Amino acid sequence: MENQKLSNQVKLSYEDRGSGNAVVLLHGFCGSSQYWKEIIPLLETAYRVIVPDLRGHGASSVPDEPYLMETIATDIALLLDKLGIDKAVLCGHSMGGYAASAFAGAYPNKLAGLSLIHSTTLPDDEGGKQKRTEAMELIRKEGVAPFVEGLIPKLFADQTLQINKAIVQQAVDIGNNTPPLGAIRSAEGMRERIDRTLIVEKLQVPVLLVAGSKDKVISPDKTFTPQGAHIHKHKIEKAGHMSMMECPDELIEPLKTFLAQCY
Ligand code: MLT
Repeated sequence: MENQKLSNQVKLSYEDRGSGNAVVLLHGFCGSSQYWKEIIPLLETAYRVIVPDLRGHGASSVPDEPYLMETIATDIALLLDKLGIDKAVLCGHSMGGYAASAFAGAYPNKLAGLSLIHSTTLPDDEGGKQKRTEAMELIRKEGVAPFVEGLIPKLFADQTLQINKAIVQQAVDIGNNTPPLGAIRSAEGMRERIDRTLIVEKLQVPVLLVAGSKDKVISPDKTFTPQGAHIHKHKIEKAGHMSMMECPDELIEPLKTFLAQCY
């Protein structure tokens, strides 16, 4: 892993692999760049693949302020500037997709394509906001482990939970490594996020939406909300919320087809 201190004083840890046109992979809540470890080798032969730990996660710094999706997007824009990358395709998993959509709104000229993977452009509804507040309270009082314990069964398809315990354990370990303050500030940022459906519908670059039929966190209809001729939709039957770990071969095919349309 490499790291860069950005002009906003945030230090981001990241993988920088391969060469050519840039593809940025953004992990989800209580994840890390490790979420993409099966996908990186499959892309780095053709692209420069940048995979950060988002602020408050992995080895990146943990500022004590709300992590609005716009704020995370700015971290990514500053990192790309530091790395001399003018344009990139952003692929965001879940919370990483919320941040990628915010990047699309704020920095459309830096975007060559957008993929939202098990994510949505919709904001939290009132019940969802209430759950964020409860999660923040739980993590503040008891740390990240009890929250992660409750989250993990929802992340994976039942079949993965039963037969691929090693993958599930990896997600538990990554989740438990999340600094509590980072998790709290991220949950706060997700709670405050706005509807970005129109932003994605008006983009001038290709968009790929990927959903898992068995996703218990974000259902396919929520992923597939945006409409438009530039928007491609792909459903993975056996995936829950974590296709990049559950079935990377089934994610990489649509992703490669999409990337070929972006560059
Ligand atoms: C994620 O995987 O990033 C989260 O489950 C997203 C969310 O809680 O909305």
